[in-house]
Amino acid sequence: MLGARRMLGALRLCSSVSCPRPRASAKLRVRDALGVQDASGECVTVQGWIRSVRSQKEVLFLHVNDGSSLESLQVVADSNFDSRELAFGSSVQVQGQLVKSLSKRQNVELKAEKIEVIGNCEAKAFPIKYKERHPLEYLRQYPHLRCRTNTLGSILRVRSEATAAIHSYFKDNGFVHIHTPVITSNDCEGAGELFQVEPSSKMKVPEENFFNVPAFLTVSGQLHLEVMSGAFTQVFTFGPTFRAENSQSRRHLAEFYMVEAEISFVESLQDLMQVMEELFKAATEMVLSNCPEDVELCHKFIAPGQKTRTYAKKQLPNWGVDLQTEHEKYLVKHCGNIPVFVINYPLALKPFYMRDNEDGPQHTVAAVDLLVPGVGELFGGSLREERYHILEQRLARSGLTKAYQWYLDLRQFGSVPHGGFGMGFERYLQCILGVDNIKDVIPFPRFTHSCLL
Ligand code: 4AD
Ligand code: MG
Repeated sequence: MLGARRMLGALRLCSSVSCPRPRASAKLRVRDALGVQDASGECVTVQGWIRSVRSQKEVLFLHVNDGSSLESLQVVADSNFDSRELAFGSSVQVQGQLVKSLSKRQNVELKAEKIEVIGNCEAKAFPIKYKERHPLEYLRQYPHLRCRTNTLGSILRVRSEATAAIHSYFKDNGFVHIHTPVITSNDCEGAGELFQVEPSSKMKVPEENFFNVPAFLTVSGQLHLEVMSGAFTQVFTFGPTFRAENSQSRRHLAEFYMVEAEISFVESLQDLMQVMEELFKAATEMVLSNCPEDVELCHKFIAPGQKTRTYAKKQLPNWGVDLQTEHEKYLVKHCGNIPVFVINYPLALKPFYMRDNEDGPQHTVAAVDLLVPGVGELFGGSLREERYHILEQRLARSGLTKAYQWYLDLRQFGSVPHGGFGMGFERYLQCILGVDNIKDVIPFPRFTHSCLL
């Protein structure tokens, strides 16, 4: 919140900067204007989009929102200002005096002295209608406009806060941030869900690859992080990840953001699970304290409206068969609808890099998934196979030795026990906000048969 004194300081600063207009008027974000304590007629300018218009005999009330907060700023104007252009959706610049509001609904309001319509909004053609609560499915058709609604505004502000919270968790805990490549020549997960990268046809040289090797959009930054954990001990990356999964499910995207961490000198899954849990808790606490209104809006208006699903699966599959979404849901429910760690999966189901538990007869690897209510798998991680000979044999069995020689090198030059995990960022947002469909927690969703904008 901006105290009156600090604001005065800001105003003085503003007028000392070259300001040719006769009356300096500080430009304030709506959020900052709403936070002013003891407003006493400071001259300010606010810019934004009209969210509501109420015209009375002698006064006109507008609510202006600039995306800085869920709450809009009430503008009170003389009815002479009333015009057809002052309509829902139009962009405006309002100059006036910030005063204490007489109403209990807001702390301050802006007594308008000048209102400028910057861009008129054609109400009839505008897909977002005044005072209507549009279903999320409807808004999905308008990725270029849906951010102007309260719901998407709140979700995307939380997304921004959560991004900052995740970065700050890692920074506070001594992790180095690594920009892992988007274009890569490996298939980390070995599931063949790759998008290949090639120049557009005009540039394409027949029979040759642009990079001399087939190149793909990354499915995970893990292998590159493993390189870096061999120098920086604790590293993380947080970027876009791509999977050519033929799925339009409510928890899959073709482009999603993944938070990945890799930690050297880790010898037990327990240590990894502790970091996962801490990350989840620290990020969520920060989000809750930085934007409680936005989270509350989701909990009040989105989460309760979500469909409750019944699951056909009443038991877990036989040993050696992979868990499906329904099994994950069943497990979470069975444990009392709380987050559940599942550890030590069958070796045959998991990628080559996971550490062999060398157990029997149910041969497992040191893998861990965190399953959460409503979403299913949120984190996937493991200890990595750091023993040269075991890894060499596994790669040889899959015919990958040549392609992963560099990865084997890491086990030859100062190898250490290590492990890491990846958390689907959109699934995290679904989980904390209670949003049913993953397409509603990313600004521009990409999935099979859809790449709008
Ligand atoms: O379980 P996954 O495939 O694990 C990995 O990629 C590891 N290499 C990560 C690591 O250890 N560094 O993916 C991690 C998480 C999943 O648990 C899930 O939350 C999310 O990424 N995820 C998806 N989110 C949205 N759309 C998809 N298509 C997703 N696929 C995975
Ligand atoms: Mg997984």
